[in-house]
Amino acid sequence: SKVVLAYSGGLDTSVILKWLQETYDCEVVTFTADLGQGEELAPAREKAKAAGVKDIFIDDLREEFVRDYVFPMFRANSLYEGVYLLGTSIARPLIAKRQIEIAKQVGADAVSHGATGKGNDQVRFELGYYGLQPDIKVISPWREWDLNSRSKLISYAEERGIAVPQSKRGEPPFSMDANLLHISYEGNALEDPWVEADESMFTRSVSPMAAPDEPTYLDIHFEQGNPVGISGQRLAPHTLLTALNTLAGQNGIGRIDIVESRFVGMKSRGVYETPGGTVLLTARRAIESICLDRGESHLKDDLMPRYAELVYNGFWFTPERLALQAAIDATQKYCTGTVRLKLYKGNTIIVGRRSQFSLYDEKIASFEDDGGLYDQKDAAGFIKLQALRLRTLGVARTQLGRL
Ligand code: ARG
Ligand code: SIN
Repeated sequence: SKVVLAYSGGLDTSVILKWLQETYDCEVVTFTADLGQGEELAPAREKAKAAGVKDIFIDDLREEFVRDYVFPMFRANSLYEGVYLLGTSIARPLIAKRQIEIAKQVGADAVSHGATGKGNDQVRFELGYYGLQPDIKVISPWREWDLNSRSKLISYAEERGIAVPQSKRGEPPFSMDANLLHISYEGNALEDPWVEADESMFTRSVSPMAAPDEPTYLDIHFEQGNPVGISGQRLAPHTLLTALNTLAGQNGIGRIDIVESRFVGMKSRGVYETPGGTVLLTARRAIESICLDRGESHLKDDLMPRYAELVYNGFWFTPERLALQAAIDATQKYCTGTVRLKLYKGNTIIVGRRSQFSLYDEKIASFEDDGGLYDQKDAAGFIKLQALRLRTLGVARTQLGRL
């Protein structure tokens, strides 16, 4: 039999590769995705070769990731539990999809991943697999083997000639996951939610305290809800997000330190850096503020937590996510225009917005004479009818009336 393994080239998945070959006596096909994690991928190829892998897939998925996963999710203004921009969650369905495609291409009957049995990622990968290929066999080594301590894993690796770099010998300071949207840090040194993360941990942003004293101004151009350029320059989705990451990271933007509710039921503490995404969400809110009607805007705000929860829990390839997506996307047809921002010491400050479809009417909004567009006398009846039930209540429930 043949197994397609989601392989990063790191120590854990290198052990998994060997373990699959030994335990299942199978041919392992490795798949390594470039999602903009900012790591060299050539070593993954060398290590897979050294382990006897014949079919090695290394794919640059950055463009597809940002265009077909990150941007659709941003159109919903997604935030999980009010704060998490879903940087890891949104990458898993794409990895799963590509793994299944490869399995079909090479005639593999199984897929495998390196997520533990305690987290969200196992669910996201596997819901993706089953959703795209109902009869696929899934091998989840962390739920099967007994290498559940660092020392066991390292001895296993050493006994089999898998290189264990000096830095990996002890307990790693935290577990990381990175892609173009974010980097996450969890576990070990971060397990006590009262203990502050060390400044040296951060890799995508300077501390707001170390950020420049001069603000960075920029324009973000939107078309139908998607960012398409920065300050007059048209950019492909992944190039745009890369540029936003740099600008925002230099200004100390996008760090969060949270305790979140995992799908499997436990609370977990994570520290995340999402510089470009943080700016993008704020800018998207600003363009929507002039392009969306109140009704559609409030409706999509109602739907957003449901959408975010689907993404967090791994239900990307589901009819309900697609139904919500269709509703959200229908509101974005006229979401075209430009937002001007100022990035300054951890803050994303909106300073301007404009659109050819703007619903903002300076004449109507003005405190000066509006030329009869809005008759203030109409407001009296409007308020009186709104108050009708309150006045009825006041009479019927005398205590309330006396308050
Ligand atoms: N807690 C975050 C999430 O569930 C980040 C997970 C990070 N995954 C990892 N393999 N380190 O989306
Ligand atoms: C893992 O358990 O593999 C990482 C954390 C998560 O998936 O939530």
